[in-house]
Amino acid sequence: MARILVTSALPYINGIKHLGNLAGSMLPADVYVRFQRLRGHEVLAICATDEHGTPAELAAAAAGQDVAQYCNEQHEVQKALGERFNLAWDHFGRTSSDWNKRLTQHFAEMLEANGLIAEVVEKQVYSIDDARFLPDRYVEGTCPNCGFEKARGDQCDNCGKLLDPIDLIEPYSAVSGSKNLEVRDTRHLQLRQTEMEGRIRAWVDAAEGWPPLAKSIAYKWLDEGLRDRTITRDLKWGVPVTKDGAPREGFEDKVFYVWFDAPIGYISATAEWAEATGNDWESWWRTDKGADDVSYVQFMGKDNVAFHTVSFPATILGSQEPWKTVDKLKAFNWLNWYGGKFSTSSKRGVFMDQALELLPADYWRWYLTAYAPEGGDAQFTWEHFQGVINTDLANVLGNFVNRILKFAASRFDGVIPEGGEPGEHEAWLAAEVDQRLKAIAAHYDAMEFRKAGAETRALWAAGNEYLTRAEPWSHFKTDRDKAAIGVRTGINLAVLSAIVAQPVIPETAAKILHAVGVPEGKRTWPADAGAVLLDALPRGLEFTVPDVLFAKVEDEQIAEWSERFGGAV
Ligand code: 2FM
Ligand code: ZN
Repeated sequence: MARILVTSALPYINGIKHLGNLAGSMLPADVYVRFQRLRGHEVLAICATDEHGTPAELAAAAAGQDVAQYCNEQHEVQKALGERFNLAWDHFGRTSSDWNKRLTQHFAEMLEANGLIAEVVEKQVYSIDDARFLPDRYVEGTCPNCGFEKARGDQCDNCGKLLDPIDLIEPYSAVSGSKNLEVRDTRHLQLRQTEMEGRIRAWVDAAEGWPPLAKSIAYKWLDEGLRDRTITRDLKWGVPVTKDGAPREGFEDKVFYVWFDAPIGYISATAEWAEATGNDWESWWRTDKGADDVSYVQFMGKDNVAFHTVSFPATILGSQEPWKTVDKLKAFNWLNWYGGKFSTSSKRGVFMDQALELLPADYWRWYLTAYAPEGGDAQFTWEHFQGVINTDLANVLGNFVNRILKFAASRFDGVIPEGGEPGEHEAWLAAEVDQRLKAIAAHYDAMEFRKAGAETRALWAAGNEYLTRAEPWSHFKTDRDKAAIGVRTGINLAVLSAIVAQPVIPETAAKILHAVGVPEGKRTWPADAGAVLLDALPRGLEFTVPDVLFAKVEDEQIAEWSERFGGAV
C-alpha cells in the first residue's frame, strides 16, 4: 500500500468557479484520488481556498463587503459546491489560516537566513486619487504584448503573458478608474531566484513523473532565464511581513504576495487537517519525518505550472529544510467556451452552482473527465455535451444496466439465478474485460483521463455486446440454464461496470451497487476480472432495479440552456 498525497490548485476565493476551473484541477484530482483509494492505497486529498491578494480584495470591494467577511462566506460557498460535486477531500482549508501565516513567515525567514532574500526599492504604480499603490490587478490598461485593452497589471487575460503593472499602456485604477497615476518608489523583498537557477534545473531534470505539458512549461521558464521575484506587495490583506518573529520595519503596510503564500497553503491545509483529526502532518511533508515514502501528485491548469515548477520549488528548496517536493505534476489545457474562454470576470460560461441546477454532478463529472482538455485545449459546446451524455451515459451504461436487471427481475424473480456453465461468450467477455480493466488502471496511474474514460466506455459497451451475443431472452423458454448464465454474468458485469465507474460517476455507481446488493467493503478495484464475472454476486441474492440511471438530454433543454448561457445553437 502506497501513501499518496494529492493536491489540486487552490481555487481563488473571488467567486464561484466555472466548469473550466473544475475540469482543470479539482475534478481530475478527485477522480485520481478515488481511483487510488479503490486500489487500496492510503490517499490524502487536500485543497483550500486561495484567499489573499488583489483577487480577494477586489471581489470583496465589488460585493461591498469587508474582505475577511467576504472570504468567510465564499469559502463556505465553495466548500459546499465541492461537496455537491462529490469532491472527496480530506480537508478543504484556507490560506488565510493561522497555520498558513506561520508557515509563510517561517519560509521567508529561512530564505533570508540562507541569503536568498534581498530588500530592494522598486517602482510601482501609485494612484493619487485613491491615495494608494496599485499592485497587480489593481491596475488595468492595454497589454504591451497583444494590445488587449483590458489587461490586468499582473497578467494579460487575452495572450496569457505575465506583466508588470508599470508596463501597461494607458493604465487606469481598477478601484476608481482614475488615470491620475504616477510611478513611485517603494521598498520590497525579492526572492533571489537567479541564485537558485542551477538547483531548480537539476530538480526539474531529475523529475520523472511529470507528463510532457508540465515539463515543457518548466523548461520554457528555465530556458528564458529566471528573474529575481518580488514576494511582497503594498496591500493590507495577506500574511504580514516579519523579521525574527516581529513585524519587519518599513513593511508594516505590506504583506507577502499571494503567489508566495498560496502554495504553502498545501502544507498548511494538511496541518489544519492533522490538527482537526489527530493526525501527523509532518509524516506527509517532511522527508525527515516519514514523508520520503509519500508519492506527491499535483493537479493544475497550465497557467499555474510555472508557479509550481519554479517559484514554489524555489521557496521549498531555498529553505534548505527537508520538505517533500512534488513527484508527479499533471497540467491541463483550457476548456474553452464557444471559441473564447470561460471567464470569471466576464461571467462567461457555466459555473459550478448553475451546472447543478441543470443536471446532477455525475453528468458533468463524466463529460469533464472523459473529454478533459488534456492533449490540447478542448471546446465546450452544448451539442457535444448532449451527444456525450446521451451516448455514453444513457445509451451505453444506463441501457446495459437497465436492460439486464429488468429482464432478470421479471424472468428470474429478482434473484441471481443458479444454473448454467460459462461457455464461449463468457470466455470472450472475460478476456475483453480483463484487458480493459488493466488498461483503465494503467491510464489512471499515468493520469491520462481521456484514455481512461475511453476504456471505461468500451468496458460498458462490452456489456451490451455480451448481451447481444449471449441472448438470454431468446434462450429463456428453451434452455433456462443458458439464460441463467447469461443473466448472472450480465449482472456481474454490471457490478464490474459500476466498480470501475466509481472514480468518475460515484453517485450512479453507488446506486447500481446498492441495487444489486454489493456491500461497501466489496467495491474495491478487482484484481481478477474473470472471478468477478463468475462470482461477484452469490446465487440466490435478491436485487432491485434502480430507476432510470441517466435521463437523455433533450433538444429543448439544449435550446433553453444555449439561450440562458449565451452559447450558440
Ligand atoms: O490560478 C489560480 O486559480 C490560483 N488560485 C491557484 C493557486 S495554486 C496554489 F499554489 F495555491
Ligand atoms: Zn496580451
